Amino acid sequence: MSSHAITKAVIPAAGLGTRFLPATKSQPKEMLPIVDKPAIQYVIEEAVRAGLTDILVVTGRGKRAIEDHFDRNFELEYYLEQQSKTDLLREVQLTSEMADIHYIRQRDPLGLGHAVSVAREHVGNEPFAVLLGDDIMVDDSKLLLSMIDIHARYGRSALALKKVPHESISSYGCVEPEPVHDGLVQVRSIVEKPKPEDAPSDLAVIGRYVFTPEIFDALDRIQPGAGGELQLTDAISLLLETQTVYGCVFESGRYDIGQKIDFLRANVELALDRPDLGPEVAEFLVQLVKDRGLI
Ligand code: UTP
Repeated sequence: MSSHAITKAVIPAAGLGTRFLPATKSQPKEMLPIVDKPAIQYVIEEAVRAGLTDILVVTGRGKRAIEDHFDRNFELEYYLEQQSKTDLLREVQLTSEMADIHYIRQRDPLGLGHAVSVAREHVGNEPFAVLLGDDIMVDDSKLLLSMIDIHARYGRSALALKKVPHESISSYGCVEPEPVHDGLVQVRSIVEKPKPEDAPSDLAVIGRYVFTPEIFDALDRIQPGAGGELQLTDAISLLLETQTVYGCVFESGRYDIGQKIDFLRANVELALDRPDLGPEVAEFLVQLVKDRGLI
C-alpha cells in the first residue's frame, strides 16, 4: 500500500481537438478562453487548490502556446508597469508563479493512456493525480480533495464518476459499480465507450483520477482499444486485476470544453458567476430570450 502524500498532477493536453476544428487547427483546445482565462488555467488552479504543486503538462506539436502562457512575459509586464495597470500586472505575473510546471511531449497523440504513460519518469514510484486539460469542474476542487482523501484512507486509485443520460454513455468510459457508502463505489469493471445496451451502468468516468504508481505497469501492457487509441480505461481494467479501484460519484457541474456545447455553456455560466460581469450578462440573456421569442 502506498502511503505517500500526493503532490504531483499530470495534465494530458496533447490531443488534436478534432471536435473543435477549425478553432483548434493552429491553437491548442486547452488554450480556448473561458470568459477571459484559458481552459487549462482553470484546471491548473484546481490542482493547486487541492495542494498539487508539482504539475506535469503533457503537450505535443502545436501546443507551444501553453508553455508561453505559464512563462514570464517581460515585455508585457514592463508595459503594464509603465501604464500603472497593477491589477493586470499581478494577474499576468500570477500565471507564471502559480505552480512548479513541467512539460513533456507526447510525440504522437496515440491516446489518453499513452499520454499518461509518458509521465512515468517524472512521477516515479508515487501516487499522482491526472486532470484532463480540457475538462473544467465547477466544484472548486472539492472533488479532487475527496479523491485524494480516498487514496489516503485506502491507499488505492480513485476515479471521478458522474451519472450521464443513458444514451450518452457511449461517449465515455463506464464502470460497473459496487456501492460502498454515499458517494463512494468500488469499481467492479470498466469499459470504454460501450453501446448503451451493453453499458453496465450510467456512471461515466470524468476527467479526474488519482492513481497508484502501478497504473504505469498496466499502461505498459495495453493494446490499441476503442477508436484505435491506447485507452487509459483499458489500463484501469488491467489494474483492477491486482488492486481495488474506487469511484467518487459527484453531481456538481463539469464542462468538457472540447465539445462545442459545453464550451458555450461554460462561457455563459462562468460569466454569470462573475461579480464584474454577471449582472450585465444576465440582463443580456433575458433580453435575448425575449427578443428571439425563445420561451
Ligand atoms: P480527448 O479525447 O477529449 O481529446 O482527450 P482529443 O483527442 O484532443 O479530442 P478530439 O476527440 O480529437 O476532439 C482528453 C484529454 O486528453 C488529452 C487531450 O489533449 C485532452 O485534454 N489527450 C488525448 C492527450 O494528451 N493525448 C492523446 O493522445 C489523446
